Amino acid sequence: MCRFYYIATMGCQMNEYDSDCLGQQLMNYGLAATDNHENADLIIINTCTVRAKAQQKAFSLIGRMMSIKKRKPDVILGVMGCIAQQEGSDLLKKFPDIDLVLGTREIGSTPQLLDRITKGKEKIVATDLSIKPIPRERHDGYFRNSIKSYISIMEGCNNFCSYCIVPYVRGREVSRSSKEIMEEAKSLVSQGIKEITLLGQNVNSYSFTEREDVDFPMLLRMLSGLDGLNRIRFTTSHPKDLSDDLISCFKELSVLCPHIHLPFQSGSDRILRMMNRGYSREQYIELIAKLRDIRPDFAITSDVMVGFPGESDKDFQMTIDLIKKIEFDNLFSFKYSDRKGTFSENMDKKVDEHEKSSRLSILQSIQKEITLKRNIKHIGKEEEVLVEGESKKGGQLTGRNETNKIVNFYSDIKLTGSLVRVYIKHAFINSLQGTLIKGH
Ligand code: SAH
Ligand code: SF4
Ligand code: F3S
Repeated sequence: MCRFYYIATMGCQMNEYDSDCLGQQLMNYGLAATDNHENADLIIINTCTVRAKAQQKAFSLIGRMMSIKKRKPDVILGVMGCIAQQEGSDLLKKFPDIDLVLGTREIGSTPQLLDRITKGKEKIVATDLSIKPIPRERHDGYFRNSIKSYISIMEGCNNFCSYCIVPYVRGREVSRSSKEIMEEAKSLVSQGIKEITLLGQNVNSYSFTEREDVDFPMLLRMLSGLDGLNRIRFTTSHPKDLSDDLISCFKELSVLCPHIHLPFQSGSDRILRMMNRGYSREQYIELIAKLRDIRPDFAITSDVMVGFPGESDKDFQMTIDLIKKIEFDNLFSFKYSDRKGTFSENMDKKVDEHEKSSRLSILQSIQKEITLKRNIKHIGKEEEVLVEGESKKGGQLTGRNETNKIVNFYSDIKLTGSLVRVYIKHAFINSLQGTLIKGH
């Protein structure tokens, strides 16, 4: 009989949320968590396939975990997440020791599937993507020692950006009811959670219309009234769905943090059209102006890729130009990677690997300077920090300011979980450093 479970999570925040949901279900099922896979009776790998590299990483982890099964044949090995969804039963051909292939919409049925595996000694592939996500159970107390948490408010994506695998592995957009979301938020706050990040592949297209008519700004307004909740964030937003009503929420709701992750992908209109992104460079610039109009220190982070098929040097220069114009607080930058079944897989004029690497390194070195410049602007300011505990290197406390930047300072560990004010003295690439302002 299983006693301990171990979940390895790769990929984005949606996978982290899913792993937490599964963990809670497994606890209700009678298992306890372990962070050492050697002690686990049930090992689950939550996978990502957004780029070829992510997929290779997951395959190599699955391979390593398979070797444990050679030594301990009773261990149950499961693969969930986007590779499980994409590969389905083919995964069993590649890795015959896997017992469970769990699709992205089937997480809620895990306990029943585990029963079948332990009783019937059968292998199970559950990857129906046409169903609504099965409601997940909660385990009261699971988040008791945490400060912040995610809530997924919608699943799936209808956008079909030409390069992207996500719509194929996460299915069509489905929003959860506001009632369910509010209940989950209340449960989190009652366990001590101070900050909630609302998640969705395309979070600002949230719309629940079954028994009520709630859109994303309305949902934010409902959540902002929750007693004990200090901060709300959300990710990931799509520029084409960033309405004026949503922008005004940043003015209106003091718990909504002044930071947005707004992927732009390319600075060239020609490439944006080929990517099927649904906005132009000018429209993106206008959105940022509206946000910075609310607060000049509004933090903007984004995703960008280089080497999309047909990207010329001129297109790339347009991307660099946009990066310099906007001055993002931070950027996640990627080399374009062909994904099986996407539109761009069959586009011609693929950019060679060498060229992609060279464009990426030019882009990253420019952004590094901009990130530092943006961080330096915090020096001399008094900022609100939600304290998360001891910093990685130890000695200092660490937390995040409203714009989601890491702030380290010396003080008492007892402050963990509280909102404090810190005077920022130093700025680095990845963090800020300051001193606690006493008496708040
Ligand atoms: N739903 C989010 C995130 C999608 S995946 C959104 O719409 O923004 C996260 C990032 O991975 C994307 O923003 C994109 O920059 C990058 N990405 C997605 N597919 C990719 C591919 N085939 N090659 C390289 N980068 C990719
Ligand atoms: Fe992928 Fe585009 Fe959907 Fe984001 S919006 S998940 S990049 S298809
Ligand atoms: Fe990866 Fe799936 Fe997220 S492909 S980025 S884990 S939605």
